[in-house]
Amino acid sequence: MYIDVLTIFPEMVKLLSQWGILSRAIQGGHLNLRAINIRDFTTDKRRSTDDAPYGGGPGMVMKPEPVVKAIEYAKREREKGTAILMTPQGRRFTQEMAHLLSTHPHLILVCGRYEGIDERIRHFVDEEISIGDYVLTGGELPAFVLIDAVVRLIPGVLGNESSTREESFSTGLLEYPQYTRPQIFRDLPVPEILLSGHHKKIQEWRRQMAIQRTQERHPDLYKRYFHHHLDKEK
Ligand code: ADE
Repeated sequence: MYIDVLTIFPEMVKLLSQWGILSRAIQGGHLNLRAINIRDFTTDKRRSTDDAPYGGGPGMVMKPEPVVKAIEYAKREREKGTAILMTPQGRRFTQEMAHLLSTHPHLILVCGRYEGIDERIRHFVDEEISIGDYVLTGGELPAFVLIDAVVRLIPGVLGNESSTREESFSTGLLEYPQYTRPQIFRDLPVPEILLSGHHKKIQEWRRQMAIQRTQERHPDLYKRYFHHHLDKEK
């Protein structure tokens, strides 16, 4: 998969490619991650990417020309690029969207900065995505959240395919509690059942714990899970 990050801070993208699963995905040829510097598409001497807002008011607005030129550059290079603007006004990012995006051959993530972007930039992207109802200082961290969630779903990246199928949100439930050694840590023992070696009972216990957790901590998710399963039984 190709992912282009359009940003005025291309150095930030390097951080992503240096550690952990993402660096492995790049080395393994699953991911081709590239930073495209929006500033490279400016034409004025100061290479400015922002300007004062029409109508007045505080703050600066990201200029349309450099951003749109950068999008066109990224799209020209490869067919079937999907341009996504990271913005709190976008559709809320979910695990379902991550699965869908993981099948795209080429994502172009547009990171806004400053207090806002020129509204006309919206005409040149295919989608707008928000990672949650809070406002960050730019689209870079949201783009990284999206990249992390998407890339780990590309077949071959994690090595253990069943772990993405069993985990939270894919099953519609939160994960069951996990334990490793030592058997007793600061007076806290590992639940007896997990030491029993009884595979079937362990599975059932985990399922029950997952359901109970979801019900307690994420009732909206539980409601969806519950209705989905009732529908299946009909
Ligand atoms: N840019 C600033 N805040 C954001 C958010 N919550 N999601 C996506 N892009 C953003």
